Amino acid sequence: MAKIKCIGVLTSGGDAPGMNAAIRAVTRSAISRGYKVKGIYRGYEGLIHNEIKSLTTESVSGIMNRGGTMLKTARSKDFMTAKGKRKAYENLVAAGIDALIVIGGNGTLTGAKEFAEQYDFPIIGLPGTVDNDIAGTDETIGFDTSLNTIMECVDRIKDTAYSHERIFFIEVMGRDAGFLAQNSAIASGAEAALIPEDMTDADQLSEFIGRGIRKSKNSSIVIVSESPKCGAVYYSERVKKEYPDYDVRLSILGHLQRGGSPTARDRILASVLGVGAIDALEAGQRNVMVGMRHDQVVFTPFTIATKEGGKPLDKNLIRVLKELSI
Ligand code: F6P
Repeated sequence: MAKIKCIGVLTSGGDAPGMNAAIRAVTRSAISRGYKVKGIYRGYEGLIHNEIKSLTTESVSGIMNRGGTMLKTARSKDFMTAKGKRKAYENLVAAGIDALIVIGGNGTLTGAKEFAEQYDFPIIGLPGTVDNDIAGTDETIGFDTSLNTIMECVDRIKDTAYSHERIFFIEVMGRDAGFLAQNSAIASGAEAALIPEDMTDADQLSEFIGRGIRKSKNSSIVIVSESPKCGAVYYSERVKKEYPDYDVRLSILGHLQRGGSPTARDRILASVLGVGAIDALEAGQRNVMVGMRHDQVVFTPFTIATKEGGKPLDKNLIRVLKELSI
């Protein structure tokens, strides 16, 4: 195995709070062990276009508390093509980069897996996404901050729901996973959550009306995952139509869920995993994601980390919400 002297780092896919803390950790951990570090801007897209700059300890000063990513990010279509991957490989070699650390979600890790299958290049992944939909880690970098942001938003919306005696359907992010929706519903004391993992019944409306929207409550909050399986618009419209006495509103939280200063939990997770990425390289690990399970740093092959449905939602959370929303 060739000796690693220079490590490249990039962020790709949707930005997540804590990505900066991860970049800082990777950079400083690598430098303190004698490696050179190069930052690749705009993810795989920037790699294809050779947007590479050396990073020093100072380059990553003062970024820990900032949301987003100082390296910028992109969702690269070109990297999915053989031509794009070849160009990326040529640029890595030309820049003298011998190993790559990628920080991102499912798409980023899948891209890394495919690249590593084609080219014999050491890559380590870090899970950076608000969705928390990655196997091999209990939490992804960004999830906790986003969850707290959603909780604060719902707390505010509850003031209006209470004052106007309304039913609010609140759509939250998560792509095809209900981690943000289910957890934020518990944290904010919502009456119900609609998540893709629990869409067993095609029509859950009567259940909501019976359970969440009771006579003894003059307002209700239903958190709805953005997954197409859930349909915040569909349900809010139906309640409006079928229960004209209820005052119904739909609120879509959108990208404000992805921004903002990361929580201490996300900063610590990102720092530990960033150091873990350098540990992984030094331990001869290749094509694995570094995650945290039961308070231990663990390495999971990309093939497992990116497996669809590989990280099941804890069904106990569904029971907890139901039991507490009476
Ligand atoms: O994967 C993170 C995420 O925020 C998802 O929750 C959401 O579906 C998607 O990214 C939105 O992506 P974009 O910012 O590209 O619209």
